[in-house]
Amino acid sequence: MTNLPTRVRIVEVGPRDGLQNENKPVSIEDRIALVNRLSNAGFGTIEAGSFVSSDWIPQMAHSDQVIAGIKRRRGTRYSALTPNLTGLNAARQAGADGVAVFASASETFSKKNINCSIDESLDRFRPVLESAKEHNLPVRGYVSCAIDCPYEDAIAPDKVLTLSRQLLELGCYEIALSDTTGKGTPASFRRLLDTMTVAINADQLALHCHDTYGQALVNVYTSLEYGISVFDSSVAGLGGCPYAKGASGNLATEDLLYLLHDLGIETGIDLDKTIEAGNFITDILECPNRSSVSQARRASR
Ligand code: HMG
Ligand code: MG
Repeated sequence: MTNLPTRVRIVEVGPRDGLQNENKPVSIEDRIALVNRLSNAGFGTIEAGSFVSSDWIPQMAHSDQVIAGIKRRRGTRYSALTPNLTGLNAARQAGADGVAVFASASETFSKKNINCSIDESLDRFRPVLESAKEHNLPVRGYVSCAIDCPYEDAIAPDKVLTLSRQLLELGCYEIALSDTTGKGTPASFRRLLDTMTVAINADQLALHCHDTYGQALVNVYTSLEYGISVFDSSVAGLGGCPYAKGASGNLATEDLLYLLHDLGIETGIDLDKTIEAGNFITDILECPNRSSVSQARRASR
């Protein structure tokens, strides 16, 4: 077997990427309770909210109150999305420990998601990164449509590489290669990672897979073989992206943990507590828990 990383960092994006696409409103108290349960399960990074226009994403309104209300666990970083300086200032005031800018390798998706071209988005991110640096806030860079775009179809790996390099040059510490539509397979991920890892160290890359086509877990395994050791996932498989029609939630965290732990890869996260957190939020949302592991556990009780 290829040498796989012995430890993986999971970025839990359920409270942001998950809840941003659920129709049923979730109260501020319940958003805080979800983050607290995830902290208690041992996650080192939790994306707790998003400082974007509430006209665009009403579900993420009041992220400042969510972040301010969290019972902080030592060792957990509570981060948030910030598309511009307005967002960064708000995230900082709320007490976020890290932020993320989000670009797209597809011009059309960039326009639909953040209302500007790719070049304009980089211009908006520059002051975000400068100010974050002044305040010692680490900044992650997402690259949406790293495999495929809902409007332009397949995206060439070279485009993803160029944009990733630009974000790293601006000062991002890590690039989250995002399969927004969930259409990626091991074949397309290998094409992407063959290009990426020639120019960028695997330890600066993370994977953010939506599971729309049921390929997320196998894509994670493929990327482990490239030495990638940071993966995003969403408790109970919540969510999607409002500007990628039909895209379902991220890979369910419970399923990711089950795979990694069985491979002997450390995560520092308690699977049972994660399952409880997933059941907690799906009960509130009155929606099915999309984690296969949670479903199997429930059926075997
Ligand atoms: P815009 O209309 O071009 O911006 O939107 P603007 O600067 O002209 O401002 C318009 C209004 O928004 C103004 O308010 C601003 O104050 C306000 P008004 O004067 O009309 O009352 N505004 C803000 N309000 C709160 N927070 C801010 C902010 N900035 C301006 N930061 C903007 C540009 C980026 C704001 C808008 O397009 C937006 O909010 N988009 C959010 C899109 C989004 O959140 N998408 C989902 C997250 S990305 C994702 O899910 C993908 C990812 O998971 C990876 C993957 O899977 O691919 C990360
Ligand atoms: Mg996403």
